[in-house]
Amino acid sequence: MSDTRTIKAHGGLLINRMVQGEARTELLKEAESLSVIPIDSWTISDLDLIAVGGFSPLTGFLDEADYRSVVERMRLSNGTVWSIPVTLPVEESQADLLASGERVALRGAEDGIVYALMEITSLYRADPLYEAQNVFKTTDEAHPGVKKLYSRSSVYAGGPVWVVNRKQPDRFGEFYFDPIDTRKLFAEKGWKTVVGFQTRNPVHRAHEYIQKSALEIVDGLFLNPLVGETKSDDIPADVRMKSYLVLLEHYYPKNRVQLGVFPAAMRYAGPREAIFHALVRKNYGCTHFIVGRDHAGVGDYYGTYEAQEIFREFTAEDIGITPLFFEHSFYCKTCGNMASSKTCPHDKVHHMTLSGTKVRALLREGECPPPEFTRPEVARVLIEGIQDQERLSLSGGSLV
Ligand code: ADX
Repeated sequence: MSDTRTIKAHGGLLINRMVQGEARTELLKEAESLSVIPIDSWTISDLDLIAVGGFSPLTGFLDEADYRSVVERMRLSNGTVWSIPVTLPVEESQADLLASGERVALRGAEDGIVYALMEITSLYRADPLYEAQNVFKTTDEAHPGVKKLYSRSSVYAGGPVWVVNRKQPDRFGEFYFDPIDTRKLFAEKGWKTVVGFQTRNPVHRAHEYIQKSALEIVDGLFLNPLVGETKSDDIPADVRMKSYLVLLEHYYPKNRVQLGVFPAAMRYAGPREAIFHALVRKNYGCTHFIVGRDHAGVGDYYGTYEAQEIFREFTAEDIGITPLFFEHSFYCKTCGNMASSKTCPHDKVHHMTLSGTKVRALLREGECPPPEFTRPEVARVLIEGIQDQERLSLSGGSLV
């Protein structure tokens, strides 16, 4: 099995599309005379992850052949596994004015910053219904990933990018690491095996339980919360970050955990996103990746263990990072500990389960969920965050 010293990026090579120094100055000059494609914060985060190799082996946005192959069979056209289309939508009126072979500047729609130059190798029209059905397994607009897909243009431009600027994080900058940094960090810590943990939520006891179960068999935990775009009722990233810090301070051994953010947008694509999340964590240097129940799921669109079952469609070499599967975990009042159906013989009535909606309702009322569900230190941070958010929304502001 690979360890952190030898684990290769997906596709074999850690991609670097950042351009610096004189070459960057020249590209910025060239950009002044190029057509501009405006990009939103979602695309800026995709671009940044391409730039630093988080999305290795991608060197740009998917061209038509790769796109069709990814949508149909979860592989790039050369056969490398890739489960989520990373695409650049272009407004139809603008697409009419662009041509394959042309170089364009990708400029932030809001901040006017030129983030990259791209060579268009392919300009194509997607079928959003087909993409939605294959990637999200539904065409229902109530699904947040599908809704996002339908809101974007279905004409895509594909081709390699050269990144000249990066968005600077406004908060928690010390927890932003590129794959090259995490690989170095893991090596410095002497961790031969590292398990990556994806989350878009605060860490509750069930998350803690599966992380610590994994930590019993690997050297380190890379707690890698997603902080890119999420749906509006998910808890904002900066509140979550505070909650992770307080949890780590009180309940985790310092020398066994590294916290670092994952700046990608959440797709809510369940099984396909689980594959994508695993491959990306391999790029960050993880050897193992946790997939629990309903990973990256939303509503009832996916079966509880579909995100685990999908791994069977690939060989271990195809994926190159070891998935660690966990069953639905809970606190059992009769066992007096955290457990899953693999370790607890008691009926459901003995188990403490709370829906996300119920937890949010409690927090909004300023009440801590039971300590068997959420550590009190974490609950207090969440209560404060939610109350701040409500105060801000009453005054017309926003926390994030
Ligand atoms: S996700 O959308 O980022 O996957 P979440 O933050 O809820 O959602 O989950 C993070 C990881 O913990 C995922 O791998 C998920 O499957 C797992 N997980 C969440 N809750 C449980 C639970 N009660 N039992 C087992 N695994 C869980």
